[in-house]
Amino acid sequence: MEKREIVIMGGGLMALTIGLALQQRGASVTILGADFAAAAGHAAAGMLAPQAEGLPPSPMLDLCLRSRSMYADWAAKLESLTGQSVGYWPCGIMAPAYAAADFPEHPIANWCSLEHLGQTQLGLSDAVQGGWWFPKDAQVDNRKLMPALLAAVQAAGGEICSGVRIQSIDIQATASGSQVTQLSTNAGEWQADHYILAAGAWSQSLLPIPVTPRKGQMLSLRWVQPDAAPLPLQCVLFGSDIYIVPRQDGRVVVGATSESVGFTNGNTAAGVQRLLTEAIRLFPALQDCHLLETWWGYRPETPDELPILGESMHQNLTVATGHYRNGILLAPITGQIIADWVMSQRPDDLLSAFHWSRFNGL
Ligand code: GLY
Repeated sequence: MEKREIVIMGGGLMALTIGLALQQRGASVTILGADFAAAAGHAAAGMLAPQAEGLPPSPMLDLCLRSRSMYADWAAKLESLTGQSVGYWPCGIMAPAYAAADFPEHPIANWCSLEHLGQTQLGLSDAVQGGWWFPKDAQVDNRKLMPALLAAVQAAGGEICSGVRIQSIDIQATASGSQVTQLSTNAGEWQADHYILAAGAWSQSLLPIPVTPRKGQMLSLRWVQPDAAPLPLQCVLFGSDIYIVPRQDGRVVVGATSESVGFTNGNTAAGVQRLLTEAIRLFPALQDCHLLETWWGYRPETPDELPILGESMHQNLTVATGHYRNGILLAPITGQIIADWVMSQRPDDLLSAFHWSRFNGL
């Protein structure tokens, strides 16, 4: 098979985002995905929530804040490239609590009274005592984002190969270390000048890095009122065991469980029950919504819950995986810093905090 310039392993958000960023820097990319529809990017809720997630001051918070600040322009560019909306909505995220102790101290936000929260969002449960308001946190409709990215990569000439299962990354020793010689797959052998592993929760089956699946069950509701009144929820609600993400078309996404059950497909009665109970408890008007859909996905988790970004143990292989709960948020910055690294070997200041070698010996 003809040698490619850059082959990306993975059919999800990171593979597509990095692919597009590389194309914008003049590279030619091939993306090999086993099942593009299984990617966590489809399953997510699309919250852009570095503050609501309660990340402590750290390189991770810096990375997340940088990515959030890129989002409006990144989404607009994608929309102009494809003519497709991606549903970016800087609606703010409210983190209501039934008791102040329900939430960790947020390092960069002040506690708000219920009265204060109610000025921003009516209809919260009477049991809410107060909470936090993060006006700069936002959302994107990830189910629109994923096809838009795919369309953008294809429009720029990217080679998208679906149904390709990588059986092994073949390695040879070199004078100064080791390098990838080819990828063995169910669709033959693939060779490239450079390889990128962006296979999310499936990364560990290809490289000895500790990335494991953390299952999240989700569901969606549809707001239906006989008088066609619009959904009264106009911001994301981020509770201690639940989040509620209203979309501008009247859908409401509710998530998510967090389960260490490997790749165990399916929604459970208990999982769906807990999501519905907690969602209705927090925003009682949801009890009249229609249940639209249930689904699940697999977050790529690492032992320290931080992504693995940049160089790998092999000279011509870059990694971008382990984004855990913040993959949608981290897409723009991941595309930028990985593409810059691959094209110019110029490491971003933040890359060292996410180096794979922190897990050496695990
Ligand atoms: N980003 C929210 C979640 O992973 O459930």
